[in-house]
Amino acid sequence: MTTTIAIAGKGGTGKTTVAGLLIRYLTESESGSILAIDADPASNLNMVLGLTMDQTIGDIREEMLDQVQSSGALAGSMPGGMSKVDYLDYQVQMALVEGDRVDFLAMGRPEGQGCYCAANQMLRVIIDRIGKQYEYVVIDNEAGMEHLSRRTTRNVDVLLLVTDPTQRGLATAQRMAAMVPELEIGVGRTYLVVNRLRGAMPTPLAEAVGESGLELLGTIPEDAAMAEFEFTGRPLVELPADTAVYQAVSELAMRALREVTV
Ligand SMILES: Nc1ncnc2c1ncn2[C@@H]1O[C@H](COP(=O)(O)OP(=O)(O)O)[C@@H](O)[C@H]1O
Ligand SMILES: [Mg+2]
Repeated sequence: MTTTIAIAGKGGTGKTTVAGLLIRYLTESESGSILAIDADPASNLNMVLGLTMDQTIGDIREEMLDQVQSSGALAGSMPGGMSKVDYLDYQVQMALVEGDRVDFLAMGRPEGQGCYCAANQMLRVIIDRIGKQYEYVVIDNEAGMEHLSRRTTRNVDVLLLVTDPTQRGLATAQRMAAMVPELEIGVGRTYLVVNRLRGAMPTPLAEAVGESGLELLGTIPEDAAMAEFEFTGRPLVELPADTAVYQAVSELAMRALREVTV
């Protein structure tokens, strides 16, 4: 059985950081393979994981569109007589970056005006089928929740809504949680994660969290070790294990996974 964990929240709150460190936790503390999906064109999750990336799902879709348009009458088949599904399947396999324990797939830019819906649907099915081969699928999302169900047909077991210690971030997380029932996909458990805390949670924020109706999974402190890694571009998976930020992510990952298995 695959456990799927999605990370969402307001921009800049630490989604990619949490995704990267969560993946690291899984490689160090759990067995089984992991598929990391970067669903935010602006996030560069691959850099956080120390992986180089070549092609995105968006690139594959655009190439497919070009091929179909230029071959007009041949719209039913692809070069070499391949069916469209086989062609897309092959391209996605090629785009999959294979790491040691972690494989990586980037969604790239979202579909544009000339949305090629049939290809999108095929791609969703292909990606979901690939995902089934892994113990864990971790999806780093862009800020908007609506994208989650457009990019996958897969149900999510754990949705982590990341916020910074601000009322605005919390309001975004609440709005996202409220959208969950409207998504086409199922979501098992939704949790709030408050990131970048300097010391204890300020009382007004703690009160607002209490009234938000969201279940607080845990908090992550502001960690000076992050800045050094960010300006050198060093992958976050190389952060020393005793850094506060990694310790905190490990603890909340442990808690979330315990809930999944009960
Ligand atoms: N706990 C933390 N301590 C210090 N810096 C952090 C922490 N979490 C995130 N950051 C920094 O905040 C910035 C935004 O984080 P990122 O994970 O890219 O956010 P998002 O994916 O939500 O846009 C990055 O520069 C990152 O290094
Ligand atoms: Mg990000």
